[in-house]
Amino acid sequence: MDARDAGTDISEVLVSEEAIAGRLAELARQVEADYEGRDVLLVGVLKGAVMIMADFVRALHRHAPMDWMAVSSYGSGTKSSGVVRILKDLEADVSGVHVLIVEDIIDSGLTLSWLVGNLRARGAASVEVLTLLRKPDAAKVDVEVRYVGFDIPDAFVVGYGLDYDQRYRNLGFVGTLAEHVHAP
Ligand code: IMP
Ligand code: MG
Repeated sequence: MDARDAGTDISEVLVSEEAIAGRLAELARQVEADYEGRDVLLVGVLKGAVMIMADFVRALHRHAPMDWMAVSSYGSGTKSSGVVRILKDLEADVSGVHVLIVEDIIDSGLTLSWLVGNLRARGAASVEVLTLLRKPDAAKVDVEVRYVGFDIPDAFVVGYGLDYDQRYRNLGFVGTLAEHVHAP
């Protein structure tokens, strides 16, 4: 799906496909350097991280196995509460493993904060975070995010894995959802 298919639903292209690809390549170089000589397990958070995982792992010039979790965070509308339930758990035992969580976006950071704690409690050797997008509120939470694609303003965005009511995930870029789509 591209901008034309989305019609007037997208008010602004915030991060283009080219910008995403360029930034993921930079982050891949950093991750290669940081994990040199060590195995690393990429843990993607379904479903939003599907696109970034697919592109990021192909940008890496090294082996990096993938595993997936799906979590639901109870919340109202577009805000999460930090109360998290596991919908799909990892296949791998992460005890003693260097884990790199791959996320689409960090907003309140509550979901991520819970996830980092959960993986540490399972005995992971280290837990770091890579996210494509980060919103300003994320600064309020004590999760250290080592790899950030783009810091964006506090608007509701869709595309490149991010949805509104399960739609727009298959847009190639990240855009701001127009008011008329999500206005009550
Ligand atoms: P947090 O717990 O508030 O950080 O919320 C994280 C999750 O909320 C993300 O993984 C997304 O699934 C969702 N989310 C937060 N902001 C947006 C957005 O602007 N568009 C789409 N989904 C979002
Ligand atoms: Mg998510």
